[in-house]
This record gives sequence, structure tokens and C-alpha cells, in this order.
Amino acid sequence: MGLISIDASKCKRDGYCVRDCPTAIIELPAEGLPEIAPDREGSCLECGHCVAVCPFGALSHARIPMGECPPIAKELRISDDQAAQFLRSRRSVRHFTDRPVEKEKIRRLIDLARYAPTGGNSQMVEWIVLDDKSRIREIAALTVDWLREIVRNPQVVAASPYLPLTVATWDAGMDSVLRGAPVLITATAPGEAMNGTVDLAIALAYLDLFATTLNLGTCWAGLLQGAILNSPAVKAAVGIPQSHPHHYPIMAGYPELRYYRLPERKAPKITFA
Ligand SMILES: Cc1cc2nc3c(=O)[nH]c(=O)nc-3n(C[C@H](O)[C@H](O)[C@H](O)COP(=O)(O)O)c2cc1C
Repeated sequence: MGLISIDASKCKRDGYCVRDCPTAIIELPAEGLPEIAPDREGSCLECGHCVAVCPFGALSHARIPMGECPPIAKELRISDDQAAQFLRSRRSVRHFTDRPVEKEKIRRLIDLARYAPTGGNSQMVEWIVLDDKSRIREIAALTVDWLREIVRNPQVVAASPYLPLTVATWDAGMDSVLRGAPVLITATAPGEAMNGTVDLAIALAYLDLFATTLNLGTCWAGLLQGAILNSPAVKAAVGIPQSHPHHYPIMAGYPELRYYRLPERKAPKITFA
């Protein structure tokens, strides 16, 4: 059996699958049904566009079972106003309650992040989850050790004047590195992932946004990312394998505070060139 099979009783020969295939491997013969020549099957991205774009459910793909392709539910569409408020109301959460996050919820978050686009549909983003607060605190402490070193350099302090303050607040008993978060999620991608850093950043953005719908809050952990990039001890503590040069961590937990307004951002600079 070929990569795609067509139900002749449903196919209208409208050619949508042919037009929408990103690698243009589907052909519509003058007579007959859409097909992929066997020598072109290796160029399939397995993106599922051919299955999704057929209005009649006529096309099945050997590696994308129809049972795993539910129809898009029109009644779940959200309006532009709903989408705008949803996107604008996401905030970085820096105060978490003591409530542990259920592993099932973390799995749901990551499961949704799988639907983020990846270059060439490579889907190589992987996840490291730490949900032991004491281990997360150790990672914050290692990050502060690294910060203590780098704030000795006046150029670093000139560029990031808040860094000495981060060390001082840690010494005063406050964790402004990982904010006492109960969960640390790190997205990683292996060296072979050509767009690895972008892929995982988009996946994290999906996770970040979806978290709000599960009543969770998140905060991108930029300070920790700096430490991972520069301190082997921090990188090892987070558990990032050497084979995965792409990575970014994000904190997560149940938020302690709520937000009631939508502050304005800078006006965009747009050039229609
Ligand atoms: C890549 C990235 C790294 C960040 N790193 C940190 C961080 O280390 N600590 C922190 O408290 N906030 C961090 N943030 C949060 C930003 O400060 C925050 O997104 C920005 O102030 C806008 O606020 P909002 O996210 O609530 O809209 C980071 C955000 C991004 C996108």
C-alpha cells in the first residue's frame, strides 16, 4: 500500500490535496485518483495537510491515522476579541502558591505544545520537567553562583544593572532567579534540528499561553538560560544532554496573584517595504 490511499466513493478530484502539499509530491492523473509516486514518498513531511484539507475525508495517510485526525469543531472557534484578550492577558507569573502542579496537567501542557509548528515539521523538541522544589532551588543557587562571578565584570553590570540586585535579593532570602516556582520545564532540541532554537521557542510560547487556560502561570527563565549557556554545572543540574545545544527553561506553577487590566505596549515599528 502507498503512503496515501483514496476512497474513490468520496473523492471529488477537486485537487485540494495536490495544491496544498508543501513538497508537491501528490499528483492528480488526467483520469483516476490522487497519488504519490513511490520514489517521492521519502519527501513527505508527514504534516497532515493532505488529510486536513480534504473536505470529504477521502484521503488517508498511512502514517497519520484518520482516527487521530478529529474534525475541526466550528462551535469552538473563538472571536478576534476573545483571541485578543486571551493573548493580551497572559502575564509573566513570579509569585506561585505552594500547591504542587499535577503531573497530568504538565503532560497536558506539553501535549498541546506538540502542535506548534517546527521547521520542516521535524518535531524534535523534547522536554525536561523538574517538579521537586528543592532541586529547583539548588538550580537557582547554582545560577546565583554564576551571577556572582559575572557581576565582577563592570561591563556586564553596565549592560544589565539589575544583576547585582538579583544576587543581593538572593542573599536577603528571596529567589528572583526561579521565583520559588514548583515546576521548571525546559524545552530542548538536538543539534540535528536545523531550526531548533526557534522551534522550541514557539513550542514554549504555545505552552505558555495554554497554561493560562489550565489556571497555571509561567515565566520564561532568562537568567537560568544565561547560566545554562555559560556554566556546565548549571547545565548538568537541569539535565540537558550535550547532544541538545538548543534549550530554554520556563517556570510554572499556580499563580498567587491575579491581573485585572491590560497595560499598553510600545507602538509597533512597521515598515511596508
Ligand atoms: C526570553 C525571555 C526571558 C525572560 N526571562 C525572565 C527572567 O529570567 N526572570 C523574570 O522574572 N522574567 C523573565 N522574563 C519575563 C519578561 O520580563 C516579561 O515577559 C516582560 O516584562 C513582559 O511582561 P509580561 O510577560 O507579564 O507581559 C522573560 C521573558 C522572555 C520572553
